[in-house]
Amino acid sequence: MNITVIGTGYVGLVTGTCLAEVGNDVLCLDVDTAKIAMLNDGRIPIYEPGLEQIAARNVAAGRLRFTSDQREAVRFGAVQFIAVGTPPGEDGSADLQYVLAAARNIGRHMDSRTIVVNKSTVPVGTADAVDAVIREELARRGADVDFAVVSNPEFLKEGAAVEDFMRPDRVIIGADDPQAIACLRSIYSAFVRNHDRLMVMDTRSAELTKYASNAMLATRISFMNELANLADKVGADIERVRVGIGSDPRIGFDFLYAGCGYGGSCFPKDVRALLRTAGDNGVRLGVLEAVDDANEAQKRLLLDKIKARFGNDLKGRRFAMWGLAFKANTNDMRAATSRVVIKGLFDAGARVVGYDPVAMPEARRLFRNDDRLSLADSAMDALRGADALVIVTEWKEFRSPNHAMVRELLRHPVIFDGRNLYDPESVRGYGLEYIGIGR
Ligand code: NAD
Ligand code: UGA
Repeated sequence: MNITVIGTGYVGLVTGTCLAEVGNDVLCLDVDTAKIAMLNDGRIPIYEPGLEQIAARNVAAGRLRFTSDQREAVRFGAVQFIAVGTPPGEDGSADLQYVLAAARNIGRHMDSRTIVVNKSTVPVGTADAVDAVIREELARRGADVDFAVVSNPEFLKEGAAVEDFMRPDRVIIGADDPQAIACLRSIYSAFVRNHDRLMVMDTRSAELTKYASNAMLATRISFMNELANLADKVGADIERVRVGIGSDPRIGFDFLYAGCGYGGSCFPKDVRALLRTAGDNGVRLGVLEAVDDANEAQKRLLLDKIKARFGNDLKGRRFAMWGLAFKANTNDMRAATSRVVIKGLFDAGARVVGYDPVAMPEARRLFRNDDRLSLADSAMDALRGADALVIVTEWKEFRSPNHAMVRELLRHPVIFDGRNLYDPESVRGYGLEYIGIGR
């Protein structure tokens, strides 16, 4: 099948590549011409395990192409996936300008029946808005072309995006057009091991399912983070509590890790966008308001702990930071806790030496070579002469360092472990002071 994917970010590029991998002819469109030039040069603009190899072999096979020519892209696909960003607007609502621009562009150029599939995370009612924009464009052109709009939210996680797309837990199709539903079933048949994993519902339920899913996961994390703060005070270990409650199958083990707050391009923005939708409809989601507040506080917790240990005035101090990305296996620093901690340390007069296996170019771009942040060549190099170590991201390579060497390189042997990577007793055995989250 000929498929167009609009937007070549984390979702669009993974979607396009995986659809090509199962035999479709895919044309990916982006308005960012630098990104398209890079892709056409064989370079992948994001770090996502496995993506580069799969993209390369599909490009070589002629099934995966990239363009910034809007007309060519829209005329290519019988199915058009919209996978552009929906960043937070000033009031917390999802900014739909990119989705609606993509829809307008489809209406402007399409010349045969088209199925428009919305993969971006969008507020309830957006499928109707996309439909209206396309209709408006067609009327303006005086064109009579048939189309259907489908809501198909994406649930992939960064760092495991290819794996999640190739083997999804579920695929949600929000649609009422039988031909569009049949077409999407056929496209996804390569990915869903059995058809129970593909669920068809109305567009509004599909749109709300996406936000409900992220909000539920964020709720679990904030709940555990608050419990961790209690565990800290009462002398319990949140890691033991996690295992203790996770073994109840009604609770399960996933997404119960306490830490220095959730970040990324999705949980923070989607929680706020859902709160906004609720507010606009006169409904108060009190639990979710608390989830957001708790996370804001949690992102500052490491700073509070650093100040409790070293004092509020950190002038002249230098902290080593392991991990800059919002989570492991990605170079994404959108809403990353590292940014809050770095800024807080700067404000208190300190300097930071950061290390991250893949996010350092992104850190360089974001901090625009602010000389209070320097970047080290290795995790151990970051420690040389630093007052203490602050761990913000759960990268595998931080899991079993040479603790004796850590102790030797730090001026004060203190580890602030924002991801509870170590067993406190064993770290203390090396003469290191260990300050984790909730233990
Ligand atoms: P992104 O910012 O990485 O990429 C979006 C891309 O769209 C950019 O390259 C941008 O140049 C391009 N674009 C913007 N307007 C365009 C237009 N009119 N035509 C063509 N291209 C255009 O975004 P992302 O992280 O891939 O997220 C995309 C959507 O998917 C968001 O709604 C997000 O909430 C949702 N989502 C993201 C993830 C994730 O893990 N990142 C997972 C599930 C869902
Ligand atoms: C999240 C969801 O997991 C995906 O299903 C969804 O598609 C995506 O958002 C989206 O809508 O964009 P992602 O943001 O890539 O995916 O990463 P997660 O693995 O969910 O982690 C989010 C944040 O929560 C990270 O900062 C992570 O460190 C934190 N986290 C995660 C915890 O603090 N504790 C946990 O137990 C799990």
